Amino acid sequence: MVFTRLFTQLLKTNPKNDNGCVTNNKTPYKFYEEIQRAMDKMSDHEKLKQHIKELEKEACERNESEKRIKHLNSVLNSIRNIHHLVSGVDNPKEFIEKACKSLVDDGGYFGAWIILTDEDNIVLGSAATGLGESFLSILEKMERDELIYCCKNVLAQSEILAIEDTLSACAGCPVSHMYRGRGAMTGRLEHSQKIYGVLTASVPAAFSADLKEQALFKDVTNDIAFALHNIEKKKQRQEAENELVKARDELELRVKKRTNELELLSSRLLNAQEEERKRIAADLHDEIGQSLSAAKFIIETAFEQFDTQKTVPDIDSLRKLVPMLQKTSEEVRTIVMNLRPSILDDLGILATIGWFCRQFQGVYSDIRVKEKINIKEADVSDALKTIIFRVMQEAMNNIAKHSKADIVCLYLEKRESIIDLAIEDNGLGFDMAKSSSGNIAEKGFGISGMKERTELSGGFFLIESSPGEGTIVRASWQAQK
Ligand SMILES: Nc1ncnc2c1ncn2[C@@H]1O[C@H](COP(=O)(O)OP(=O)(O)O)[C@@H](O)[C@H]1O
Ligand SMILES: [Mg+2]
Repeated sequence: MVFTRLFTQLLKTNPKNDNGCVTNNKTPYKFYEEIQRAMDKMSDHEKLKQHIKELEKEACERNESEKRIKHLNSVLNSIRNIHHLVSGVDNPKEFIEKACKSLVDDGGYFGAWIILTDEDNIVLGSAATGLGESFLSILEKMERDELIYCCKNVLAQSEILAIEDTLSACAGCPVSHMYRGRGAMTGRLEHSQKIYGVLTASVPAAFSADLKEQALFKDVTNDIAFALHNIEKKKQRQEAENELVKARDELELRVKKRTNELELLSSRLLNAQEEERKRIAADLHDEIGQSLSAAKFIIETAFEQFDTQKTVPDIDSLRKLVPMLQKTSEEVRTIVMNLRPSILDDLGILATIGWFCRQFQGVYSDIRVKEKINIKEADVSDALKTIIFRVMQEAMNNIAKHSKADIVCLYLEKRESIIDLAIEDNGLGFDMAKSSSGNIAEKGFGISGMKERTELSGGFFLIESSPGEGTIVRASWQAQK
């Protein structure tokens, strides 16, 4: 077009000859030069225009890449912030609120929201920046088990979902109007095969289609998921530590309590031993000592009478000696029974139980004692024989002292590899809670002594009783092979 314009101009200034050629005293060579010059001019102009166009394009591209660099820096800034948050925040809800705020405030994204879910898509927490109240409608929908388009997609796949046309793709989403024609990217928050939830952000539509942008967004989701994983681990560690401290405190308390109980028990044991010695001394002095003194006096009197008067001693008073000494001999047996019957060492536990029950029956004639023994002597070790005897002795004394029972059943059985001792009465029973609560110092010593002996010998001790229901004392041990 420029060429035609120049040619017409030449024709106007240089008229044609008869042959139709442009003449006007200029040679054809000159004419050619003019055209060449005009064409050079024209090509400069075109080149300039072309150059301007290229410059414009370059400026546009530079602008675009500056925008990208700015965006990239903003997102990297947010990632840095997210890393910092992990050390200072212990609560996932607080963390996601700060993460969303950073993603938007640092200028990386127009809006961002996170929903934390469990494996059944139950919402555990949420945060949003730049979306206003309409974000709550997404949560309401989720509560009704209705997942919006982006959540449904990314919860089922690990890739980033990029949406260029949010107007049509997000039509059913309560926050779609907030995107204002921009694009969106959604990714699931996943670390070590655990899905923590979903992150969605709005970006320019062109960004969302860009693969590098999608890769960057994937990094953001990975970093947030990693942070959530760390917070979770930190919480678990803290909980485990707390449990440990609690268990240690409880243990210390139990050890302290047990130590107190044992100290008290040992001091009471010493007292009990002292009391027993006192009682035995009194028994020996009052009963046996007096009987023996009386016997000695009667015998001495008889000898004196015989020696001085040479007469036969008073036979009647001598005869009285027989029942008196017999009673004394029984008293000696009772004392021995309470100490440690020799029958236990001589004849064993089964014979001792039989003998003890007969003695008991003799003293407490209102109480019927039934024995159910189903064990062989060889099944019970020597050490256990003494313990069984002591437990039985205390349980029977308690029945005589407290129960008002008229029937007592005593069981000693071996079932499979367990040796079971049980002493059951049909008496008044008692309130176990009342008896076991309260200060050990105020409680009787008998029950704790039975328990102590049984447990120290590796056994298990239990009392079952309630008012009006009688009492069962149970002790069991693992039989030796
Ligand atoms: N067989 C029983 N029947 C009813 N009450 C019992 C029986 N055995 C124990 N008790 C109750 O338990 C309490 C504690 O017994 P124990 O420790 O032997 O102490 P103590 O015999 O010195 O009172 C008794 O005071 C009594 O109230
Ligand atoms: Mg007692």
